[in-house]
Amino acid sequence: MKTIIEPFKIKSVEPIQFTTVEQRERILSEAGYNPFLIRAADVLIDLLTDSGTSAMSARQWAGMMDGDESYAGARSFYRFESTARELTGFTHIIPTHQGRAAEKILFTLTGGAGKIIPNNTHFDTTRANVEYSGATAVDLPCKESRDPAAVSDFKGNMDLEALETLIMDKGKGNIPLIMLTVTNNAGGGQPVSMSNIIGARKISKKYGIPLFLDACRFAENAWFIKLREKGYAEKSVKSIAMEMFSHFDGCTMSGKKDALVNMGGFIAFNDGQLAQNARNILIVTEGFPTYGGLSGRDLEAMAQGLEEVLDEHYLTYRIRSVGYLGEKLTAAGIPLLQPPGGHAVYIDARSFAGHLTPDAFPGQSIVCELYRLGGIRTVEIGGVMFGRTDPGTGKFIPPPMDLVRLAIPRRVYTQSHIDYVIEVVVEAWEGRKDLPGYEITYEAPMLRHFTARFRPLNG
Ligand code: F0G
Repeated sequence: MKTIIEPFKIKSVEPIQFTTVEQRERILSEAGYNPFLIRAADVLIDLLTDSGTSAMSARQWAGMMDGDESYAGARSFYRFESTARELTGFTHIIPTHQGRAAEKILFTLTGGAGKIIPNNTHFDTTRANVEYSGATAVDLPCKESRDPAAVSDFKGNMDLEALETLIMDKGKGNIPLIMLTVTNNAGGGQPVSMSNIIGARKISKKYGIPLFLDACRFAENAWFIKLREKGYAEKSVKSIAMEMFSHFDGCTMSGKKDALVNMGGFIAFNDGQLAQNARNILIVTEGFPTYGGLSGRDLEAMAQGLEEVLDEHYLTYRIRSVGYLGEKLTAAGIPLLQPPGGHAVYIDARSFAGHLTPDAFPGQSIVCELYRLGGIRTVEIGGVMFGRTDPGTGKFIPPPMDLVRLAIPRRVYTQSHIDYVIEVVVEAWEGRKDLPGYEITYEAPMLRHFTARFRPLNG
């Protein structure tokens, strides 16, 4: 087979900023060793997130010019609504400014004290919105996901036995909805199989609990189903995506991922009453239901992106370019969460920096080193993001894994950028024994990773 190439040519370019190691050491120290506090202008290759960082296509930019900015009933809304409705099959499509705004509305309506929301793995904003409503967020990842090194096709799946046990233990009346996140971002960007979705659907029907999809990376998930699940190789990715949505009662969506836009999202329902209640909240918090916190041009770009993301040449290149990064790092002996995810590669930080205990934040240490060595910005998904302190004993409770995510923005970097990233990660790996631990010197009460400040230990 010939080399898989970027299925686009570049019309507009943006320079990136080169700095020296000495400059980056100073920048890191000033930013409290937190990549979220580094100015983007001081980053060479930004792998902090794949969210809102996509390069839009010429057609999306053309759509921006064509956006209808009417307050109510804009043409751009109807184009967006019909595209999203055709794809998802949901009756009520409500735009929001991004995914977490959709989550806020969903859990304001369904959450509350005493309620429990199961998910394969909640993303941090989803968990925060569930908890902010007073409800409890429970992660039920499948058993295969516990071993980072194990290669398995659908490590994003939910543990359906655990789901049924939870429902029986807590009572179906306390579980307002079941959520599934595709791909499973906090669990390594791993896909969820159609059979797992169907299994969750059966349980949701058996107990009369609605099933909702966190659809951020639906196209990447559908592509993995086509590649890996029996019976789907010959189906179009669009039909697979439509089949996925057909098993749910509604969804939340961050358009900043698989709608290929810099800002946008939506929430969708089949239940008319729930949709009406959602629109009422939307008017107070986001805007009128035909724009929901977005401009008409954003709705145009999102409609166009939802179509482009299902292009099979695009998905071939997208999943292959992430896989390429993962394979090269694996070949160099670097411990990764296997197999590589759809939007990102995750370094297994506890194996990489084996001399650091979880309370010394090995992931944060690797994140700082990748920036120091090569100006690459990545993010820790581990003890900083999800660790807790036991209020009784004051002891640190680490999450199951410490990961460093290298998230690949869509259509932004070329293969030589990725080759450079590989060189820097290999250099960090060669010097891993000298990586320092870190301690937190400031943290906010919620979502602390965004604003926390750190100090290197023995540094
Ligand atoms: N759900 C998942 C699975 C996500 O990955 C994100 C965002 C959201 C919901 C929230 O969407 O950002 O539009 O409000 N993930 C980004 C990331 C921030 O870097 O993984 P949002």
